[in-house]
Amino acid sequence: MKIRVLGAAAGGGFPQWNCNCRNCQSVRAGLPGFERRTQSSIAVSADGARWTLINASPDILQQFQAFAGTWPTGGLRGCGIESVVLVDAQIDHTTGLYMLREKGSPWPIWCTDPVYEDLTRGNPILHLLEHYCGVNRRPLPAGGQPFHPEGSERLDWQALPLLSAAPPYSPHRGNPVPGDNVGLTIHDPATGRRVFYAPGLAEVDEAVFAAMSAADCVMVDGTFWTDDEMISMGLSKKRARDIGHLAQSGPGGMIEQLARLPRHIRRVLIHINNTNPILDDQSAERATLTAAGIQVAYDGMEIDL
Ligand code: MLT
Ligand code: MN
Ligand code: ZN
Repeated sequence: MKIRVLGAAAGGGFPQWNCNCRNCQSVRAGLPGFERRTQSSIAVSADGARWTLINASPDILQQFQAFAGTWPTGGLRGCGIESVVLVDAQIDHTTGLYMLREKGSPWPIWCTDPVYEDLTRGNPILHLLEHYCGVNRRPLPAGGQPFHPEGSERLDWQALPLLSAAPPYSPHRGNPVPGDNVGLTIHDPATGRRVFYAPGLAEVDEAVFAAMSAADCVMVDGTFWTDDEMISMGLSKKRARDIGHLAQSGPGGMIEQLARLPRHIRRVLIHINNTNPILDDQSAERATLTAAGIQVAYDGMEIDL
C-alpha cells in the first residue's frame, strides 16, 4: 500500500492567510526550518496507479498539481483518484469537493450517515454537486464492517467512531453522535500491513488504542502542542479538547499515548495547526518528538507499507 500526504496542515494551512504568529511570520519570510503546508488530506493506493482520496481540502487543486498520481492519463479527461472517503464534515475536509465538479461522471463519495446529514443540510455541498458532476453517495459503515472504496478495492478499509467534534455549523456540534468523526484502518491483505489514520482525535479510548496498536503506522492528530494553545495566544477561548483535538504535551497527551504503543509502530503526526511549535524544525518541542520517535508529516511525504 502507498500513502501520499497531500496536505499536512490543519484548517487554515501554514501559513494561514490572516495569521501573524511567529510560525506564520517565519514561514512567509522563508526562514530555514519552516516549511509551507496545505490543508489536511491524504491519498491511498494499493498499486501506486489507482488512488482513493481521503478528505477534500480547500487546497486540492494545488495538491493535485503537486502529485503526478492524480494527473490524467490516456483519455482527454481523467484523474488518478477514483473515489473520495470523508472522515468528517469539517470545512477543511470537504470544501475541495467544489473544485472536483468538472468530473464527467458522479463522484463516489464515502461518508457516514451523520456526515451525509451535515453535507446535505447545514452545508449542502453534496446536493449542490448534483448540478455539476453528481455524487454517488456510498454509506461508510461506522460499525467496523469492511468497505472497499473505488481506486483501492484490493485494500480492506474499516472505520472507527472517534470522540472528536462535528463542525461548528452542524446540529451535532455540542451534541455528538457516533460517526460525526471516524478514524480509518486500511489493511493490505497482500502484505498484511495496516495504517491507522485519524487527523481529528480528542481522546484515545480503548478502541482507538487497540486500532493504533494493531497498525504498522499511525497517522494521528497533530493539531496542537498544548491544550490551551489558542487561549494562551489570545486567538480563541476554546481548549484543543473542546474542538476535538488531543494536544501532544501534558498528562495523557498524544506523546504519552504514542509511548504506550509497541515500539515497531511508525508514529506520524498530521493535521498540524499553524500555531504549533513543532512546525519549527529547530524547536525544543520538535526535538522532544524526535527523541520519542515521532515524525511530523509534510506535504509530499510518501509512506510505503
Ligand atoms: C478542526 O479540525 O477542528 C476544524 O477543521 C477547524 C476548521 O474549521 O478549520
Ligand atoms: Mn480540521
Ligand atoms: Zn499562525
